[in-house]
Amino acid sequence: MALQRVEEIRNQGHADLLADYFEPISILAQAVVLGIDREDISSLRNWVRDLAIGASNFDKDPIMQGTADAASSEMSRVLQPLIEQESAQPSTSLISDLLHRGREEGCPRRPDEVLPTLKVLMIGGAQEPGHASASTLYALFCHPDQLRDVQEDSSLLGSAVNETLRWMSPIGTQTRQTTQSVTIAGSRIPQGERVAALISSANRDNAIFQEPDRFNIYRRDGRNAAFGFGPHACVGSLFTRKSSQVMLEVILHALPNMRPDGSKPTLLRGWEFRGPRALYVVWD
Ligand code: HEM
Repeated sequence: MALQRVEEIRNQGHADLLADYFEPISILAQAVVLGIDREDISSLRNWVRDLAIGASNFDKDPIMQGTADAASSEMSRVLQPLIEQESAQPSTSLISDLLHRGREEGCPRRPDEVLPTLKVLMIGGAQEPGHASASTLYALFCHPDQLRDVQEDSSLLGSAVNETLRWMSPIGTQTRQTTQSVTIAGSRIPQGERVAALISSANRDNAIFQEPDRFNIYRRDGRNAAFGFGPHACVGSLFTRKSSQVMLEVILHALPNMRPDGSKPTLLRGWEFRGPRALYVVWD
Protein backbone atom coordinates (compact mmCIF):
# COMPACT_ATOMS: atom_id res chain seq x y z
CA MET A 1 0.00 0.00 0.00
CA ALA A 2 2.67 2.50 1.09
CA LEU A 3 5.01 1.57 -1.79
CA GLN A 4 2.20 1.98 -4.32
CA ARG A 5 1.20 5.37 -2.91
CA VAL A 6 4.82 6.63 -3.02
CA GLU A 7 5.07 5.66 -6.69
CA GLU A 8 1.84 7.57 -7.40
CA ILE A 9 3.25 10.83 -6.01
CA ARG A 10 6.98 10.43 -6.70
CA ASN A 11 7.05 12.44 -9.96
CA GLN A 12 5.19 15.39 -8.44
CA GLY A 13 8.27 16.61 -6.54
CA HIS A 14 6.03 18.03 -3.80
CA ALA A 15 3.05 16.91 -1.71
CA ASP A 16 0.95 17.50 1.35
CA LEU A 17 2.06 14.23 2.90
CA LEU A 18 -0.86 14.15 5.33
CA ALA A 19 -3.55 14.28 2.64
CA ASP A 20 -1.59 12.56 -0.15
CA TYR A 21 0.17 9.77 1.73
CA PHE A 22 -0.38 9.20 5.47
CA GLU A 23 -4.17 9.62 5.66
CA PRO A 24 -5.08 7.52 2.59
CA ILE A 25 -2.86 4.63 3.69
CA SER A 26 -4.13 4.81 7.26
CA ILE A 27 -7.75 4.73 6.07
CA LEU A 28 -7.14 1.97 3.54
CA ALA A 29 -5.35 -0.17 6.15
CA GLN A 30 -8.26 0.29 8.51
CA ALA A 31 -10.80 -0.60 5.80
CA VAL A 32 -8.88 -3.80 4.98
CA VAL A 33 -8.66 -4.82 8.64
CA LEU A 34 -12.37 -4.18 9.17
CA GLY A 35 -13.43 -5.84 5.94
CA ILE A 36 -15.05 -2.64 4.52
CA ASP A 37 -15.45 -2.29 0.77
CA ARG A 38 -12.81 -0.09 -0.89
CA GLU A 39 -15.61 1.84 -2.63
CA ASP A 40 -16.73 3.14 0.77
CA ILE A 41 -13.31 4.60 1.63
CA SER A 42 -14.11 8.25 0.86
CA SER A 43 -17.26 7.93 3.01
CA LEU A 44 -15.14 6.37 5.75
CA ARG A 45 -12.86 9.42 5.69
CA ASN A 46 -15.82 11.84 6.04
CA TRP A 47 -17.51 9.78 8.77
CA VAL A 48 -14.34 9.66 10.81
CA ARG A 49 -13.81 13.42 10.48
CA ASP A 50 -17.43 14.13 11.54
CA LEU A 51 -17.45 11.62 14.42
CA ALA A 52 -14.23 13.18 15.71
CA ILE A 53 -16.01 16.58 15.77
CA GLY A 54 -18.60 15.06 18.13
CA ALA A 55 -15.98 13.30 20.26
CA SER A 56 -14.29 16.64 21.00
CA ASN A 57 -17.53 18.63 21.47
CA PHE A 58 -16.94 19.41 25.15
CA ASP A 59 -19.05 22.60 24.92
CA LYS A 60 -22.08 20.57 23.75
CA ASP A 61 -22.41 22.74 20.63
CA PRO A 62 -25.65 21.52 18.93
CA ILE A 63 -24.32 22.11 15.41
CA MET A 64 -21.18 20.06 16.08
CA GLN A 65 -23.30 17.36 17.72
CA GLY A 66 -25.68 17.34 14.72
CA THR A 67 -22.74 16.78 12.35
CA ALA A 68 -21.51 13.83 14.43
CA ASP A 69 -25.01 12.35 14.87
CA ALA A 70 -25.67 12.49 11.12
CA ALA A 71 -22.38 10.67 10.42
CA SER A 72 -23.16 8.12 13.14
CA SER A 73 -26.62 7.35 11.65
CA GLU A 74 -25.19 7.07 8.16
CA MET A 75 -22.48 4.71 9.39
CA SER A 76 -25.04 2.52 11.14
CA ARG A 77 -27.10 2.37 7.93
CA VAL A 78 -24.12 1.39 5.75
CA LEU A 79 -22.54 -1.00 8.27
CA GLN A 80 -25.77 -2.84 9.13
CA PRO A 81 -25.79 -5.11 6.03
CA LEU A 82 -22.08 -5.84 6.45
CA ILE A 83 -22.65 -6.79 10.09
CA GLU A 84 -25.60 -9.00 9.12
CA GLN A 85 -23.50 -10.71 6.48
CA GLU A 86 -20.60 -11.27 8.91
CA SER A 87 -23.08 -12.55 11.53
CA ALA A 88 -24.35 -15.22 9.18
CA GLN A 89 -20.99 -16.02 7.54
CA PRO A 90 -17.98 -15.40 9.80
CA SER A 91 -14.76 -14.35 8.08
CA THR A 92 -11.28 -13.27 9.20
CA SER A 93 -12.33 -9.57 9.41
CA LEU A 94 -12.26 -7.55 12.61
CA ILE A 95 -16.04 -7.03 12.40
CA SER A 96 -16.49 -10.79 12.33
CA ASP A 97 -14.20 -11.11 15.34
CA LEU A 98 -16.21 -8.52 17.28
CA LEU A 99 -19.41 -10.45 16.52
CA HIS A 100 -18.25 -14.00 17.17
CA ARG A 101 -15.25 -14.05 19.54
CA GLY A 102 -16.09 -15.78 22.83
CA ARG A 103 -19.61 -16.70 21.63
CA GLU A 104 -21.11 -20.10 20.98
CA GLU A 105 -21.35 -21.03 17.31
CA GLY A 106 -24.47 -19.53 15.73
CA CYS A 107 -24.98 -17.02 18.60
CA PRO A 108 -23.16 -13.83 17.51
CA ARG A 109 -23.51 -10.51 19.33
CA ARG A 110 -26.32 -8.23 18.15
CA PRO A 111 -25.45 -5.34 15.75
CA ASP A 112 -26.33 -2.74 18.42
CA GLU A 113 -23.80 -4.41 20.76
CA VAL A 114 -20.89 -4.03 18.33
CA LEU A 115 -21.74 -0.77 16.51
CA PRO A 116 -20.53 1.67 19.23
CA THR A 117 -17.19 -0.16 19.58
CA LEU A 118 -16.91 -0.31 15.83
CA LYS A 119 -17.33 3.46 15.56
CA VAL A 120 -14.63 4.16 18.18
CA LEU A 121 -12.39 1.69 16.35
CA MET A 122 -13.03 3.50 13.10
CA ILE A 123 -12.17 6.95 14.48
CA GLY A 124 -9.00 5.64 16.07
CA GLY A 125 -7.98 3.29 13.31
CA ALA A 126 -8.57 5.44 10.27
CA GLN A 127 -7.37 8.75 11.63
CA GLU A 128 -4.72 8.22 14.27
CA PRO A 129 -1.93 6.18 12.62
CA GLY A 130 -1.83 8.69 9.74
CA HIS A 131 -1.74 11.64 12.11
CA ALA A 132 0.87 9.97 14.35
CA SER A 133 3.11 9.36 11.32
CA ALA A 134 2.76 12.93 10.04
CA SER A 135 3.45 14.26 13.54
CA THR A 136 6.57 12.08 13.80
CA LEU A 137 7.92 13.39 10.51
CA TYR A 138 7.14 16.96 11.60
CA ALA A 139 8.99 16.37 14.91
CA LEU A 140 11.98 14.93 13.04
CA PHE A 141 12.02 17.88 10.61
CA CYS A 142 12.21 20.15 13.67
CA HIS A 143 15.20 18.11 14.94
CA PRO A 144 17.41 17.47 11.87
CA ASP A 145 20.12 15.67 13.84
CA GLN A 146 17.61 13.06 14.99
CA LEU A 147 16.12 12.86 11.48
CA ARG A 148 19.59 12.03 10.18
CA ASP A 149 20.01 9.31 12.82
CA VAL A 150 16.68 7.75 11.83
CA GLN A 151 17.57 7.88 8.14
CA GLU A 152 20.82 6.08 8.87
CA ASP A 153 19.23 3.52 11.20
CA SER A 154 15.55 2.79 10.58
CA SER A 155 15.39 0.64 13.73
CA LEU A 156 15.17 3.99 15.60
CA LEU A 157 11.78 4.70 13.99
CA GLY A 158 9.88 2.91 16.77
CA SER A 159 11.48 5.17 19.37
CA ALA A 160 10.82 8.22 17.18
CA VAL A 161 7.09 7.37 16.95
CA ASN A 162 6.92 6.68 20.68
CA GLU A 163 8.66 9.92 21.61
CA THR A 164 6.40 11.89 19.25
CA LEU A 165 3.32 10.41 20.93
CA ARG A 166 4.70 11.57 24.29
CA TRP A 167 5.79 14.99 23.05
CA MET A 168 2.62 15.69 21.07
CA SER A 169 -0.09 13.62 22.87
CA PRO A 170 -2.44 13.12 19.88
CA ILE A 171 -5.38 12.36 22.22
CA GLY A 172 -5.63 15.04 24.90
CA THR A 173 -7.71 13.37 27.59
CA GLN A 174 -8.70 10.10 29.19
CA THR A 175 -12.29 10.61 30.37
CA ARG A 176 -13.98 8.87 33.29
CA GLN A 177 -16.95 9.27 35.68
CA THR A 178 -16.37 8.71 39.40
CA THR A 179 -18.38 5.82 40.91
CA GLN A 180 -17.70 7.15 44.42
CA SER A 181 -16.27 10.25 46.03
CA VAL A 182 -12.47 10.24 45.84
CA THR A 183 -9.57 12.48 46.90
CA ILE A 184 -6.64 12.75 44.50
CA ALA A 185 -3.57 14.88 45.28
CA GLY A 186 -5.55 16.80 47.89
CA SER A 187 -8.55 17.55 45.66
CA ARG A 188 -11.91 15.96 46.47
CA ILE A 189 -13.98 14.81 43.50
CA PRO A 190 -17.63 13.98 44.33
CA GLN A 191 -19.40 10.80 43.22
CA GLY A 192 -20.83 10.88 39.69
CA GLU A 193 -18.50 13.66 38.51
CA ARG A 194 -17.06 13.57 35.01
CA VAL A 195 -13.28 13.74 35.00
CA ALA A 196 -10.92 14.46 32.13
CA ALA A 197 -7.38 13.33 32.95
CA LEU A 198 -5.01 15.42 30.82
CA ILE A 199 -2.73 13.03 28.95
CA SER A 200 -0.81 15.91 27.40
CA SER A 201 0.05 17.14 30.90
CA ALA A 202 1.02 13.66 32.16
CA ASN A 203 3.32 13.26 29.17
CA ARG A 204 5.21 16.45 30.09
CA ASP A 205 5.34 15.75 33.85
CA ASN A 206 8.79 16.82 35.03
CA ALA A 207 8.53 14.48 38.03
CA ILE A 208 8.59 11.61 35.51
CA PHE A 209 10.50 12.89 32.48
CA GLN A 210 13.82 14.73 32.42
CA GLU A 211 13.54 17.92 30.34
CA PRO A 212 9.98 16.94 29.37
CA ASP A 213 9.61 19.64 26.70
CA ARG A 214 12.62 18.34 24.79
CA PHE A 215 11.99 15.94 21.90
CA ASN A 216 14.49 13.13 22.37
CA ILE A 217 14.14 9.79 20.61
CA TYR A 218 16.88 8.37 22.87
CA ARG A 219 14.82 9.01 26.01
CA ARG A 220 14.45 5.98 28.28
CA ASP A 221 12.72 7.58 31.28
CA GLY A 222 9.07 7.40 32.22
CA ARG A 223 6.11 5.58 30.79
CA ASN A 224 4.32 7.22 27.90
CA ALA A 225 0.65 7.97 28.69
CA ALA A 226 -0.41 8.58 25.07
CA PHE A 227 -2.55 5.45 24.82
CA GLY A 228 -4.12 5.77 28.29
CA PHE A 229 -3.98 3.24 31.13
CA GLY A 230 -6.18 0.54 32.65
CA PRO A 231 -8.86 -1.76 31.25
CA HIS A 232 -9.94 0.80 28.62
CA ALA A 233 -6.45 1.68 27.40
CA CYS A 234 -6.20 1.97 23.63
CA VAL A 235 -6.59 -1.30 21.73
CA GLY A 236 -4.86 0.20 18.69
CA SER A 237 -1.44 0.96 20.18
CA LEU A 238 0.41 -1.88 18.44
CA PHE A 239 -1.40 -1.24 15.14
CA THR A 240 -0.46 2.46 15.34
CA ARG A 241 3.18 1.85 16.19
CA LYS A 242 3.66 -0.78 13.49
CA SER A 243 1.77 0.97 10.68
CA SER A 244 3.44 4.31 11.44
CA GLN A 245 6.88 2.72 11.34
CA VAL A 246 6.10 1.10 7.97
CA MET A 247 4.70 4.32 6.43
CA LEU A 248 7.69 6.33 7.64
CA GLU A 249 10.31 3.78 6.64
CA VAL A 250 8.90 3.54 3.10
CA ILE A 251 8.74 7.31 2.49
CA LEU A 252 12.12 8.10 4.08
CA HIS A 253 13.78 5.39 2.01
CA ALA A 254 12.00 6.29 -1.26
CA LEU A 255 12.52 10.08 -1.03
CA PRO A 256 15.83 10.51 0.84
CA ASN A 257 16.17 14.25 0.18
CA MET A 258 12.56 15.08 1.09
CA ARG A 259 12.39 18.28 3.19
CA PRO A 260 9.75 20.70 4.48
CA ASP A 261 8.36 23.13 1.88
CA GLY A 262 9.63 26.42 3.28
CA SER A 263 6.84 28.39 1.59
CA LYS A 264 4.10 26.44 3.41
CA PRO A 265 4.77 26.09 7.14
CA THR A 266 3.19 23.23 9.07
CA LEU A 267 0.40 24.21 11.45
CA LEU A 268 -0.55 21.97 14.36
CA ARG A 269 -4.20 21.91 15.36
CA GLY A 270 -6.50 20.71 18.13
CA TRP A 271 -5.75 19.36 21.56
CA GLU A 272 -8.28 16.54 22.05
CA PHE A 273 -7.20 15.32 18.59
CA ARG A 274 -3.82 16.94 17.99
CA GLY A 275 -1.69 16.76 14.86
CA PRO A 276 -0.57 18.69 11.78
CA ARG A 277 -3.31 20.21 9.59
CA ALA A 278 -1.09 19.50 6.57
CA LEU A 279 2.55 18.54 6.02
CA TYR A 280 3.94 20.15 2.89
CA VAL A 281 7.21 18.73 1.60
CA VAL A 282 9.34 18.95 -1.53
CA TRP A 283 11.95 16.61 -3.02
CA ASP A 284 14.16 16.48 -6.14
C1 HEM B 1 -1.83 7.80 17.72
C2 HEM B 1 -2.64 6.76 17.87
C3 HEM B 1 -3.62 6.59 18.99
C4 HEM B 1 -3.66 7.20 20.20
C5 HEM B 1 -2.71 8.26 20.77
C6 HEM B 1 -4.82 6.65 20.90
C7 HEM B 1 -5.19 7.02 22.18
C8 HEM B 1 -6.25 6.47 22.85
C9 HEM B 1 -6.65 6.84 24.20
C10 HEM B 1 -5.95 7.89 25.06
C11 HEM B 1 -7.72 6.09 24.51
C12 HEM B 1 -8.53 6.18 25.82
C13 HEM B 1 -7.96 5.22 26.81
C14 HEM B 1 -8.71 5.31 28.10
O1 HEM B 1 -9.73 5.98 28.22
O2 HEM B 1 -8.22 4.69 29.04
C15 HEM B 1 -8.03 5.25 23.39
C16 HEM B 1 -9.07 4.34 23.35
C17 HEM B 1 -9.38 3.56 22.26
N1 HEM B 1 -8.69 3.50 21.06
FE1 HEM B 1 -7.02 4.56 20.61
N2 HEM B 1 -5.43 5.72 20.09
C18 HEM B 1 -4.72 5.64 18.92
C19 HEM B 1 -4.98 4.78 17.86
C20 HEM B 1 -6.01 3.88 17.82
C21 HEM B 1 -6.23 2.93 16.74
C22 HEM B 1 -5.32 2.76 15.53
C23 HEM B 1 -7.35 2.22 17.05
C24 HEM B 1 -8.04 1.12 16.29
C25 HEM B 1 -7.43 0.32 15.43
C26 HEM B 1 -7.84 2.71 18.33
C27 HEM B 1 -8.95 2.24 18.97
C28 HEM B 1 -9.32 2.61 20.25
C29 HEM B 1 -10.48 2.05 20.93
C30 HEM B 1 -11.47 1.02 20.38
C31 HEM B 1 -10.51 2.64 22.20
C32 HEM B 1 -11.52 2.40 23.32
C33 HEM B 1 -11.01 1.30 24.24
C34 HEM B 1 -11.98 1.02 25.38
O3 HEM B 1 -12.80 1.88 25.71
O4 HEM B 1 -11.89 -0.08 25.95
N3 HEM B 1 -7.00 3.72 18.74
N4 HEM B 1 -7.12 5.49 22.39
